[in-house]
Amino acid sequence: MKSAKPYIQEHKDRFLNELIDLLKIPSISADSNFKKDVIQTAEVVKDRLIKAGCDKVEICETPGYPIVYGEKIIDPNLPTVLVYGHYDVQPPDPIDLWDSPPFEPVIKKTELHPEGAIFARGSCDDKGQMYMHVKAMEYMTSTNQLPCNVKFMIEGEEEIGSESLGWFVERNQEKLSNDIILISDTGMISPEVPSITTGLRGLSYVEVEVTGPNRDLHSGLYGGAVANPINILTKMISSLHDENNHITIPGFYDKVDELSLEERAKMGEAPFSLEDYKKALDINAVFGEKGYTTNERNSIRPTLDVNGIWGGYIGEGAKTVIASKAYAKISMRLVPNQDWEEITELFKNHFESIAPKAVTVKVTPHHGGQAYVTPIDCLGYKAAENAYESTFGKTPIPQRSGGSIPIVALFEKELKSKTILMGFGLDSDAIHSPNEHFGIWNYLKGIETIPQFFHYFTEMSK
Ligand code: BES
Ligand code: MN
Ligand code: MN
Repeated sequence: MKSAKPYIQEHKDRFLNELIDLLKIPSISADSNFKKDVIQTAEVVKDRLIKAGCDKVEICETPGYPIVYGEKIIDPNLPTVLVYGHYDVQPPDPIDLWDSPPFEPVIKKTELHPEGAIFARGSCDDKGQMYMHVKAMEYMTSTNQLPCNVKFMIEGEEEIGSESLGWFVERNQEKLSNDIILISDTGMISPEVPSITTGLRGLSYVEVEVTGPNRDLHSGLYGGAVANPINILTKMISSLHDENNHITIPGFYDKVDELSLEERAKMGEAPFSLEDYKKALDINAVFGEKGYTTNERNSIRPTLDVNGIWGGYIGEGAKTVIASKAYAKISMRLVPNQDWEEITELFKNHFESIAPKAVTVKVTPHHGGQAYVTPIDCLGYKAAENAYESTFGKTPIPQRSGGSIPIVALFEKELKSKTILMGFGLDSDAIHSPNEHFGIWNYLKGIETIPQFFHYFTEMSK
């Protein structure tokens, strides 16, 4: 396959402007006030897939937000690549912390993006990365170089757990049949150190509610004599880690896939500077499970984190009160072999069991999913490796990520195929945070590398 570089240079401004238009629509799946925008985004994606050369494009209705499906089947005897991405985005708040409005994209230069980056919610996660595939498709079809069949499946509920996609995949195995799944919704180490994501953590997300007295009480009249739900909740939460930062839930580690010392040593070879890491986050020290390095803690080890905690009086000034209820949202990142439903159950039983008699506890599971690992000896990984070699001039490093795309494990179960995670974002791109951005260089490099994957995967399948 010819290098896409000249084509990309020629159409660079249009490629950027098309993405910018897409980023202007606030497709926030978590907030029902934006329902119209989420649905409109699906329409725009559909339209762009048609323009990129798909033969059949449809909006597939689900119990939730629609899935945009597109395909171009050139020869049933050739392999089929299924591209997955998501058009929904995270809520932008806290909105005050954005330097420019989240849905009014601007291009600015940064230290890590000297060629400029697009600042907008969804620029990196995942509209920008999903759109690389649409433009790579345009390149391949308009230059008559598409080497195999392609299917696109772009969903609108990834940021809220992909429930409708699970429903859709279970019902459409035939339609979605493929030889490899390709996703750009992760990151890489740096432009100088290209990497391919070979692992995603699983997830169990729960909400807990602790109830004490039946109403809020005067903290002087009742303080000391009844259980304060906030005191109790914080105590219960802090007991979930021991002094070595191990999680104390009985059975939590039972099924954890422990890596061999060789595998850990291999992981440790990836370039990493703890000093830079601390500097980028303005922290004096890192923190985590004893016996593991920073990169191990955030990829191959399971974790438990409070994502939000509330209750009582948080308005201006002081109010002397013992709240009736306290709440927290807790996520557990899981690793291969841990089953998210089993872990959710272990958490629920443990959390209920450590509650003192003076309160009642309610645990409500939200969503979850299993971890995933891409074997580096599979055909798809080798094709991706070749693709990066051809566009970066370097062999990419396999790297397990701490993030989750729960649907990937379900793809393997239902569609029986492996997933290749070719992410082009950087950890510093601030996904889910204020000032999310995506480097223009990264965007264009993705568009350049994807067609090479199609080429090598088709060649190597022969
Ligand atoms: N694209 C991310 C996941 C990701 C980012 C994986 C970077 C690896 C590297 C995805 O959109 C996401 O945010 N996933 C959620 C889980 C989901 C169930 C809400 C996550 O990881 O918190
Ligand atoms: Mn994403
Ligand atoms: Mn996300």
